[in-house]
Amino acid sequence: MKKIISPSILSADFGHLQSVCEMINRSEAEWIHIDVMDGLFVPNISFAFPVMKAIRAHCTKMMDVHLMIEHPENYITRFKEAGAGNITFHFETVGNPFAVIEQIKKEGITAGITVNPDVPVEVLEPFIKEVDMVLLMTVFAGYGGQQYIEESDERIRKVRAMIQKHHPSCLLEVDGGIHLQNVAKVYQCGANVIVAGSSIFNAADQIGAIHDLLFAH
Ligand code: DX5
Ligand code: ZN
Repeated sequence: MKKIISPSILSADFGHLQSVCEMINRSEAEWIHIDVMDGLFVPNISFAFPVMKAIRAHCTKMMDVHLMIEHPENYITRFKEAGAGNITFHFETVGNPFAVIEQIKKEGITAGITVNPDVPVEVLEPFIKEVDMVLLMTVFAGYGGQQYIEESDERIRKVRAMIQKHHPSCLLEVDGGIHLQNVAKVYQCGANVIVAGSSIFNAADQIGAIHDLLFAH
């Protein structure tokens, strides 16, 4: 199974965004993970369009945008214009997920759907045929640097089984508390796209940390 690392810049040094982008360009990370928070769906507020445009100007990797905002359907075109190559929204934030998936695909980019750890993964099953990726949160959305929720192992296995049944080429991304000590287990459970913030940006050798996460077994 193909593996992808998506470094979450939420934990990066925002005073040096250009060199953060250049590090990611030189690394084996295929994507860059962009966490957008609105202070409503999640308590925290992060950043959005102007910062994304600055990243787009320096980063050659695919922008993997994770929207933790209410009414994501109102902003899809603007996120695309700011450089998104993939947009993932939370099931909890929309009335009609099918319509939002369609809206994202109409922009010519890929669509992902996600849920927080307290939502049964079964709610995702009807959408798996339509999306390019399922993102399974392994912490509650809102902050970097949290601890991986152990019950996530079983949830990853369940989503992997649903993907194999309905849409085997759909990607399965995990986000939250992933580091070198648990990434191999997460791959074994069935994930193939790894978001990692603190375990990359707190490392002395960030390019090495990305390499180690990619090849851990
Ligand atoms: C949390 C975000 C994550 C976060 C991951 O709401 O979705 O992408 O940056 O950070 P770590 O890897 O530090 O848990
Ligand atoms: Zn995220």
